[in-house]
Parts: sequence; C-alpha cells; structure tokens
Amino acid sequence: AVSMGGPHVSDEVREMLDRYRQMRRTEPVSQDKDTGRWQVFRYGDGMTVATDANTFSNDLSEFIPDHEELRTFSKGNFQNMDQPRHRELRGLVSQGFTPRFVAGMAPRIETVAKELLDALRDRDRIDLVTDLAQPLPVTVIAEVMGLPVSDRALFRKWADALLVDNGIDAIFSEQGVAAMAPAIREMNAYLLNHVREYRTSDREGLIGDLIAAETDGMTLDDQEIVGFLALLLIAGHLTTSTLLSNAILCLDENPDATRQLRDDPGLLPNAIEEVLRYRSPLFWLDRRARETVELGGCEIPAGSQVSVALASVSRDEEEFENPDTFDIHRNPVRHLAFGMGAHFCLGAPLARLEVRIALKALLDRYRDFAVASDEPIVYHDPRGFQGATHLPVDLLVA
Ligand code: HEM
Repeated sequence: AVSMGGPHVSDEVREMLDRYRQMRRTEPVSQDKDTGRWQVFRYGDGMTVATDANTFSNDLSEFIPDHEELRTFSKGNFQNMDQPRHRELRGLVSQGFTPRFVAGMAPRIETVAKELLDALRDRDRIDLVTDLAQPLPVTVIAEVMGLPVSDRALFRKWADALLVDNGIDAIFSEQGVAAMAPAIREMNAYLLNHVREYRTSDREGLIGDLIAAETDGMTLDDQEIVGFLALLLIAGHLTTSTLLSNAILCLDENPDATRQLRDDPGLLPNAIEEVLRYRSPLFWLDRRARETVELGGCEIPAGSQVSVALASVSRDEEEFENPDTFDIHRNPVRHLAFGMGAHFCLGAPLARLEVRIALKALLDRYRDFAVASDEPIVYHDPRGFQGATHLPVDLLVA
C-alpha cells in the first residue's frame, strides 16, 4: 500500500500533508501568524473562495508593492482582475486561444515529444524534468506565440526569476519585486518588440489573432498583449512540467495503474485528473476578501488575503473517498488544481493534451521506466510548486 503522500515525497511535504489533515479537522480556516494570511483547508470552503467573486477578489494589488514597471507589465494579466474587466480581456484572448486551436496542436505536440525522446535514444537514465517535462511545454508555448524556440533558455530564466529563484511570494515584498525587476524589464522589452513586429507584418498565429481580436469595438493594445503573453509564458510552463513529472511519480508508485494505462491509453485523461488531485502542481490559490466574511466558523476581516491550500482541499475526506489513495478510476475527480469558476485555467486543455501525449509517448517507447533508486529526487520549495526540479528516471527500451 502507498503511504500517506506516497513514497516519493519530501519530508517537508509529508509534514505539510499531515498538518493539513489535522487542520481540516480542528482549524479548517486559520490565520497564518507569519504572513497574516487566512488559509483555507477544506474542499467546500476552498470552492467558495475560488468561485464567489462577489466576496473574494482576484485583485491582489493591495498586497503588492506599487512599481511602475510591474504595473505596466501586468496591464494584460487578467488573472488578477475582477469583472467586468476580466470578462472583457479573457473574452478577447479566448478568440485566439480556442479549444479548437488547442486541439489542432496535437500533431505538433506529438512531433515535439518525439524529437525530445529521440534525442535521448542512447541514454538509459534521464532527468525527466530537464530532458522532457520542461522543454515540452516551453517549446509548445513558444511555437503557439510564434517566438523562436532557440530562446527557450531565456523563457526558462524568466519563469525561474518570477516564480522560483526569489520564492513564490517574491511579488508581495519590496525586496522580492526588486529582485524580479531585471527579468520583468527584459521580458517586457522582448515581448513588446515581438508584438510590434507582428503589427507590421501579417504573420498568422496567436499574436495575429490577438491583434485582430475585437469585441464591441474594443481591442487589445500592445502592452495588454504583452501582459497576456507573459501570463502564458509563465503560467503555462512550470505548472505543466510539474504536472508531467508528478504523473511519473504517481505511476512509479502505482505499477498496477501503469500496467492498465499501457493496456488502455483511453484511461489516461482520467488518470491525469487524478494526478492533479493527488499532487496539485500549485500549493496555493489566492484571493482578497472584499468584505468581512464568515468562513469555516471564522470571521475573516475585509481586506484580508485568503489562500486556498490546494494540496489540502484535494485530500479532504469529506469530499473524496480514501483521499490518500491514488486511483485512476476515481470519477469524477473534482479537484481545484486548475481553479474553478470565472478564472478557471484558460490553459487547462493545453496542459491536459501535452501531458497525455507525453505519457503516451513514454509508454509506447519504453517497456518500463522507473524512478532511480540510487540518485535523489530534488523537489521545489514547497511554498510554491508541488513537484520535482530534478527527477532521475531509468528507461528500459521496448
Ligand atoms: C489560471 C493552474 C497550465 C494559462 C489558472 C488558475 C490555476 C491554474 C489554479 C486559476 C487562478 C485563479 O483562479 O486565480 C494551472 C495548472 C496548469 C496550468 C495546474 C498545468 C498543469 C496552464 C497553461 C496555460 C495557462 C498551459 C497557457 C498556456 C492560464 C491563464 C489563467 C490561468 C491565462 C488565467 C485565467 C483567468 O484568470 O481567467 N491556472 N495552469 N495555464 N492559467 Fe493555468
């Protein structure tokens, strides 16, 4: 049997999951002493915070130091906006980023996955993160945006600067924002340049669609397009690679599930949802309380930061039977790993597609793969992502 958190879990995360279980029972909504944030541990309360936009706002700017550059850079980032502006911008962007557009990318994603795996042909041990899980989504998103894939290292550097190197909470402190500033400046200039080039050519693709997108006479300006591209480049990158490596961790812990997926790849989509529940790539989903609100028996004062513990709500025994068991047949899998409601992850169809294609390619190509037992897994700082930054995997060719 798989123990709580599974065997591939850092001591830190194991302790967190134990604490979450305790908190769900005794203190399901609780103010964190160090940060002042209100943390939400139960599924039902998490769902309320994610979806009740009248009470909980996505605009966290009150908690973020006011920097000219950051403000400009965030102009098109509708993840941190409320209605009606959120709906307007998301609506415009959705005209380019449609489910059909995403589905049409499947053949290209298959080719990218194949090329990445071909390059590993002679290796019997790989680092699943740097050899596959990271380059796949970055390459795909760069192609979607019409950016040169050869700049991949830059995109990686920026994503790390914004989300990893300075800690996931860097945005909430003067010091953190200062540390991120060079990356923001660089990224903004790079993307702005790129969008302007598009304006003067008539190349096709997502950026062309974004330039052309119009609703009720409203269009996106260059800086807004840049903000959205940055959101795609950052949001669609570490999350997806974390999901893919988490899927490998889950399969390694559950050889039976792996066998079943090999026999019936039709089970992959549901298995991926279960990975999202069992190992949510993101640990937190943040809101600001617009008014004083009662939640889980606590009174949360207006203006508070409210954080849903995604790795806790998806293990809530009130919501899920045997929550600590990884079960690819669990159906439906009502996780909150992509959020819920108006801000539900716009890239979810792309993330699901990429991970399904990559897993299928691995299962097809290798008779077996196993997480190496003689080399340590390195994990992300558990305040941000739940997953590995280094995942040694042994491959057995079919
Ligand atoms: C929003 C997670 C992949 C683009 C979100 C939210 C979550 C999330 C939790 C909701 C934020 C909120 O409610 O405030 C994930 C995870 C991913 C993933 C776990 C991979 C496994 C992607 C990809 C893209 C993307 C591949 C784009 C290429 C976005 C955008 C939003 C968003 C644009 C903002 C939506 C809105 O505010 O209306 N994502 N994401 N994500 N995600 Fe993802």
